[in-house]
Amino acid sequence: MDIEKVNSMDFGEFVDVFGNVIERCPLIAAAVWSQRPFSDLEDLEKHLFAFIDALPQSGQEGILRCHPDLAGRELQRGTLSAESQREQRGAGLTSLDADERLRLAELNAQYRARFGFPFVLAARLSDRAAVQRELAARLHCPPAQELRTALGEVKKIGHLRLADLLGADQARA
Ligand code: GUN
Repeated sequence: MDIEKVNSMDFGEFVDVFGNVIERCPLIAAAVWSQRPFSDLEDLEKHLFAFIDALPQSGQEGILRCHPDLAGRELQRGTLSAESQREQRGAGLTSLDADERLRLAELNAQYRARFGFPFVLAARLSDRAAVQRELAARLHCPPAQELRTALGEVKKIGHLRLADLLGADQARA
């Protein structure tokens, strides 16, 4: 997908295509649509991330709260977004044994109780052992630092999803 195509999208198409670059936050794509034209895909990414950075802390925490738990109930129920499902499967989180699932559920609950939002990690850059290790380690971070780390992971996820959207269309072209 080239940038001319992106810049030519009407509002509805743009939000359909880019609405889940930030998990379950189509408002962010909706907000940056009016900032077209973008010079390239990196420019689009810059606008998406600048929107996140400009939010007050409550808005940034809201973005994190839109994310499902890793290996959580939504994975068991099959109600994840297609992107999250693919990313969690890729990290091996769909094939945990009962003990691993229980351990992650406990850690996820402790994390949520401490910070007030779910543990977010770019699952595609990780695997099941690293997810558990990172979760256990980040549980002990100071809240302000953890908010920054979590938003950094949201941006890594968004970057990979944008790259997918670009690559998928090039493969078809
Ligand atoms: N990492 C990649 N996708 C997701 C997701 O949907 N939720 C969380 N918590 N982390 C992710």
